[in-house]
Amino acid sequence: MNSCLQKDIQKADEQEIFLSDVISGLHQKPKKLYSKYFYDEKGDSLFQQIMEMPEYYLTDCELDIFKNKTAELLANIVLDGSPFDLIELGAGDALKSAHLLTLMAENKIDFTYMPVDISGNILSVLERNLRKQIPSLDIQLLQGDYFKMLHKVMHASERRKVVLFLGGNIGNMEVEESYKFCTELHNNLKKGDLLITGFDFKKNPHTILKAYNDPKGITSSFNLNLLARINRELGADFDIANFQHYQTYNPVSGACQSYLFSLKEQTVSIGEHRFIFNENEFIYMEISQKYSQKDIDRLASESGFRIISQIPDSMNWFVDSVWQVV
Ligand code: AVJ
Repeated sequence: MNSCLQKDIQKADEQEIFLSDVISGLHQKPKKLYSKYFYDEKGDSLFQQIMEMPEYYLTDCELDIFKNKTAELLANIVLDGSPFDLIELGAGDALKSAHLLTLMAENKIDFTYMPVDISGNILSVLERNLRKQIPSLDIQLLQGDYFKMLHKVMHASERRKVVLFLGGNIGNMEVEESYKFCTELHNNLKKGDLLITGFDFKKNPHTILKAYNDPKGITSSFNLNLLARINRELGADFDIANFQHYQTYNPVSGACQSYLFSLKEQTVSIGEHRFIFNENEFIYMEISQKYSQKDIDRLASESGFRIISQIPDSMNWFVDSVWQVV
């Protein structure tokens, strides 16, 4: 089959899953949409604006780790010096990992970089940047849902695996889901393989809330863009002006959650499906879960990993936690 046709088929499959996720999500009580769909071209650019906001500290913290503790990260990854596959889940533009990749290339370390992302758009940005920055890099792009892509690469080579799951992406899972995810990951990996996860620590609740409830409303646009995307791609008729963003943070559970609520009673159509929204009825859009060190310790041990290193930023607001399969 020619690869253009194959891409079209893949795209059609993706659109079908997108549609069925939206329909089933809006049938749930309370209504729900999946934040993994935030990232179309507009969403990617809004997220890049979020990362540049002074209030959104997560990227700065992890960049601090990848810029200033690169050698420590490297030492944790290289281990006995055997070649490995470096799989990055939700790689985005690889802004942070580029620092590590550069140091690895300079040290002539034998590895293949396998960035996985749901957004084909951001992967092409990543490829363009990295090919220029690190011409010698052995890179294999994987576009799609990271659970699926993970499965694919697990069986593609015998080399040991190092999985990067940065940016606080794990925060987009409910706690229960994160246990399932880490356990599943553990079951796919072999003894000695590594998982490096970025966790955003529980901290001053005002600091956290401000990162997601920014004064310029970029996070609000980021949420509303998903409704616009559903209009564009699935032919729905959301009136964006009739929805408003609402953000919460619960310092006890560590759940930072975003909602869009309906400003009036209204009906939204998607194809032949009709959804009634009462005034003030909300759609649950996203969780950005925050962790304590205890939360991290428990997650690691209950999913079959041993923590071999904790690499925090200089403020101790964020940590890259290095786990090994036991
Ligand atoms: C990309 C999942 C790390 O939850 O902090 C940023 C996404 N949402 N602002 C996060 C996001 C709203 C972000 N992650």
